[in-house]
Amino acid sequence: MGYAAVLSLVFLCHEVFTVSSSILPHLSHKHQIISLLKFKQSLTINTSASYNCENPYPKTTSWNMSRDCCSWDGVVCDNMTGNVIELNLSCSGIVGKIDSNSNLFQLSHLQRLDLSYNHFSKSHISPEFGWFSNLTHFDLSWAEFSGQISSEISHLSKLHSLRLYSSVGLRLAAHDFKLLLQNLTQLRELDLSNINISSTIPLNFSSHLTTLSLINTGLYGIIPESIFHLPNLEKLYITFNYDLSGYFPKTKWNSSASLVELDLLGVNFSDNFPESIGYLTSVRSLSLQSCNLRGPIPESISNLTRIEYLHAQDNSLNGTIPSGVFSLPSLSFLLLGGNNFSGHLEDFKSNSLIFINLGDNQLQGYLPKSIQNLVNLITLDLSFNNFSGRVDVSLFSNLKRLSDLTLSNNKISLNNENKVTLPESLQTLHLAACEVKELEFLRSAKQLEGLDLSNNKIQGRIPDWAWSNWMFSLRSLSISHNMLTSVDSIPLQTVYTIDLRSNLLQGSLPMPPNSTRYFFISQNNLTKEIPSSICNLTSLVMLDLAKNNLMGEIPQCLGNISGLEVLDMQHNSLIGTLPTIFSINGSSLRSLNLHSNKLEGRIPRSLANCKELQLLDLGDNHLTDTFPMWLGTLPKLKVLSLRSNTLHGPIQPPRIETIFPELQILDLSYNAFSGNLPSNLFQHLKAMRTNDPSTEAPRYPGSTYYEDSITVTTKGFVREIVRILYLYTVIDFSSNKFEGQIPSIMGDLIAIHTINLSHNGLKGHIPPSLGDLSSVESLDLSGNQLSGDIPEQLASLTSLSFLNLSHNHLEGCIPQGSQFHTFEC
Ligand SMILES: *[C@@H]1O[C@H](CO)[C@@H](O)[C@H](O)[C@H]1NC(C)=O
Ligand SMILES: *[C@@H]1O[C@H](CO)[C@@H](O)[C@H](O)[C@H]1NC(C)=O
Ligand SMILES: *[C@@H]1O[C@H](CO)[C@@H](O)[C@H](O)[C@H]1NC(C)=O
Ligand SMILES: *[C@@H]1O[C@H](CO)[C@@H](O)[C@H](O)[C@H]1NC(C)=O
Ligand SMILES: *[C@@H]1O[C@H](CO)[C@@H](O)[C@H](O)[C@H]1NC(C)=O
Ligand SMILES: *[C@@H]1O[C@H](CO)[C@@H](O)[C@H](O)[C@H]1NC(C)=O
Ligand SMILES: *[C@@H]1O[C@H](CO)[C@@H](O)[C@H](O)[C@H]1NC(C)=O
Ligand SMILES: *[C@@H]1O[C@H](CO)[C@@H](O)[C@H](O)[C@H]1NC(C)=O
Ligand SMILES: *[C@@H]1O[C@H](CO)[C@@H](O)[C@H](O)[C@H]1NC(C)=O
Ligand SMILES: *[C@@H]1O[C@H](CO)[C@@H](O)[C@H](O)[C@H]1NC(C)=O
Ligand SMILES: *[C@@H]1O[C@H](CO)[C@@H](O)[C@H](O)[C@H]1NC(C)=O
Ligand SMILES: *[C@@H]1O[C@H](CO)[C@@H](O)[C@H](O)[C@H]1NC(C)=O
Repeated sequence: MGYAAVLSLVFLCHEVFTVSSSILPHLSHKHQIISLLKFKQSLTINTSASYNCENPYPKTTSWNMSRDCCSWDGVVCDNMTGNVIELNLSCSGIVGKIDSNSNLFQLSHLQRLDLSYNHFSKSHISPEFGWFSNLTHFDLSWAEFSGQISSEISHLSKLHSLRLYSSVGLRLAAHDFKLLLQNLTQLRELDLSNINISSTIPLNFSSHLTTLSLINTGLYGIIPESIFHLPNLEKLYITFNYDLSGYFPKTKWNSSASLVELDLLGVNFSDNFPESIGYLTSVRSLSLQSCNLRGPIPESISNLTRIEYLHAQDNSLNGTIPSGVFSLPSLSFLLLGGNNFSGHLEDFKSNSLIFINLGDNQLQGYLPKSIQNLVNLITLDLSFNNFSGRVDVSLFSNLKRLSDLTLSNNKISLNNENKVTLPESLQTLHLAACEVKELEFLRSAKQLEGLDLSNNKIQGRIPDWAWSNWMFSLRSLSISHNMLTSVDSIPLQTVYTIDLRSNLLQGSLPMPPNSTRYFFISQNNLTKEIPSSICNLTSLVMLDLAKNNLMGEIPQCLGNISGLEVLDMQHNSLIGTLPTIFSINGSSLRSLNLHSNKLEGRIPRSLANCKELQLLDLGDNHLTDTFPMWLGTLPKLKVLSLRSNTLHGPIQPPRIETIFPELQILDLSYNAFSGNLPSNLFQHLKAMRTNDPSTEAPRYPGSTYYEDSITVTTKGFVREIVRILYLYTVIDFSSNKFEGQIPSIMGDLIAIHTINLSHNGLKGHIPPSLGDLSSVESLDLSGNQLSGDIPEQLASLTSLSFLNLSHNHLEGCIPQGSQFHTFEC
């Protein structure tokens, strides 16, 4: 075969394909074309499958017979042999599967194969990939493969680069991981991030490695120090492997010449900040966030003259921040928040800084004047420190790129003596608890999206210019805990969150715009009725009007706000019957608090439709009804308080199997319930019968502003419980007309903390089974007609710290026991 023939094959292969298909040496090329076309046919194209790419582009659409395959997009041939040696279909919007029969595997000469950023529909990575024996570059990252990676991958011993970054749950067996490292001795780049490996880290890494990425791989054990000594390593990412611990090389890092990026977030070093850091003179990015590091930052850090990104947040670092940090000539990102640094802040000597977070430390003294030279600064967070003194706004007025400024919770007061203005670039400003008295310094800030002025000394009203500045940009506004006396209207158009809690607002309820999701205006002195136009706020998720003096009825139309999760109107003067508002199916309501109003009538049956309801507090009203056993069908109800109403009658046995499965607080005190205590009910109450220490308070959007609260009587005191409510279990049936005996089945409620059955007409003996209530802290049986002995078993209740058995007809000896000697008579 002549050289010319080969060339003609390469450049005119479609002719070869159609004309001279019988010439044997050419067959392989013909086969490769057929294979490519068949491979193309087996896949579909949808560019949104490459959603992570900047410019997804369907390369295979150019594949047709009018040109030689070697000029098709993504295909590269060897210019001597005509063999397809590279296939790069990254970001090509491919959807489909590659099974063992795929024509792809005919392309045995491949040296580079890149199928990243496509959608292989959670199919497995076929073992056949292991037979591309000449592959040097292999990339299947972000390609939606799933399942176990077959061990054949370690046949690819010529690989220089292996990237399998998983987006949807790939697994690699621990022994295959070892095999892979053992056999792929040529590797320069290895990325197995997000693959579940669940292994210790083996020792045998290719000494050629320059990039090693093992983010979130479930690795555990100790990081071998040899990793830090890989002679060519430039980038090491072991982020998000929280079961890894390790030691820093104490002496010279052998890698000192080459390491450029080092990200160890979450590795548990439980060690001092490494002194040896000073040898990493090439490093540009260093992340030691949440690494359980202690002690001071060593002075040798000033050696890192190329560092741009220094992240050591959320450790236990202490001492003063060395002045060298503030002179690092290339430093742009300085993140040292969430440590225990103390002392004064040195002057900033490098104006390359863009992002500074030193929040949540114990830094003190004045804010350094040099801040005004940081002309590149975009974000500055110095909140939650002990900085003091008067801070003049002029410190920030020249920072023309400043976007986020957070100074909350220091001992500073903000002044504007020079009548300067804040930069127009400012988007979020957090000045909670900064002794702000007036808003004049905000005049020029017209792009604000977030503004927190809570816990300051702002009086009177918000000036009109401020509202018009904020009208089209503000998303979140908090002026809670100030001394505002009037907010007539809230003329904003894009706001999501408005927090005006704890001011001195009077008059009628101001109406926020219908974009509002979270509206908090509790603890003011609002009077008048709640206007029905509140139902125009169709985006509401949380509405907190508690602790005002609002009057009139609750608007019926509130039930139309289908996304409403929290409705808190406790401690007002609302009258009328409880609206039958929550009748629509699919109500999102999880917390309804109407405690302490003047509501009357029955409990609306429509509440049984609120399947998401967790807290229902109707206490301290004038409701007249019998016990709402029908609420027991609510699968998530944790708290039911009906205390202090005029509810009456016996508690009838439930008619269905599962009732109140999650209930933890049941408060029926101060009503007129009668009959026997409901043993039938106590048989259910699954949450009170099981001790589940794993129960955690759920987190909700907006929960930084709003926390469920409830008033209970425990240990003889009335207390408001906030948040811990989810860990707290109470039965309070006190001050009713219950009679008969205390059912011994109450001893099954082993998770209970507080039992109050006082001031009823209970008779008979105290059941010894109450000695099984191992978590009970407060037990009040006083003011009944109980008789007989105090059971011995009560003496074993070690958590008990409040016991009241007075005003009964008890007799005999007081049991001797660990707790009993601590009680008064
Ligand atoms: C492409 O994918 C997107 C998102 O998965 C889907 O919504 C769309 O219907 C798909 N288009 C075609 C033509 O299949
Ligand atoms: C073949 O692909 C080329 C390049 O994308 C295109 O210009 C041409 O129209 C295609 N021909 C056919 C028959 O699809
Ligand atoms: C053939 O490939 C080699 C490298 O693989 C390259 O140096 C050379 O320029 C190529 N020749 C032609 C004619 O493209
Ligand atoms: C793999 O590479 C070697 C050496 O370059 C070559 O001799 C061999 O033919 C190649 N194998 C395939 C299947 O292309
Ligand atoms: C594939 O092409 C993309 C650009 O389109 C490039 O970034 C990538 O490195 C290529 N993959 C391989 C293995 O060469
Ligand atoms: C390791 O690579 C060699 C080729 O270099 C291959 O023969 C062998 O099967 C591989 N071992 C494993 C376990 O993949
Ligand atoms: C990883 O896989 C192991 C079993 O191989 C499994 O126990 C573990 O739950 C998995 N981890 C994750 C995060 O999926
Ligand atoms: C700073 O780096 C040099 C190498 O550039 C090294 O010799 C020296 O020991 C380092 N100093 C410290 C304190 O780590
Ligand atoms: C730093 O913390 C260590 C304990 O980890 C303590 O012994 C040391 O006194 C602290 N130093 C300063 C300056 O607070
Ligand atoms: C808010 O009200 C305006 C009219 O004032 C209306 O156009 C818009 O659709 C409403 N938005 C929502 C989310 O209800
Ligand atoms: C609340 O407002 C009423 C009248 O609207 C007033 O009499 C009362 O003093 C106010 N209470 C407080 C605490 O400001
Ligand atoms: C708001 O509600 C009131 C009464 O419910 C209604 O008359 C008015 O049209 C609504 N306004 C908007 C902007 O939807």
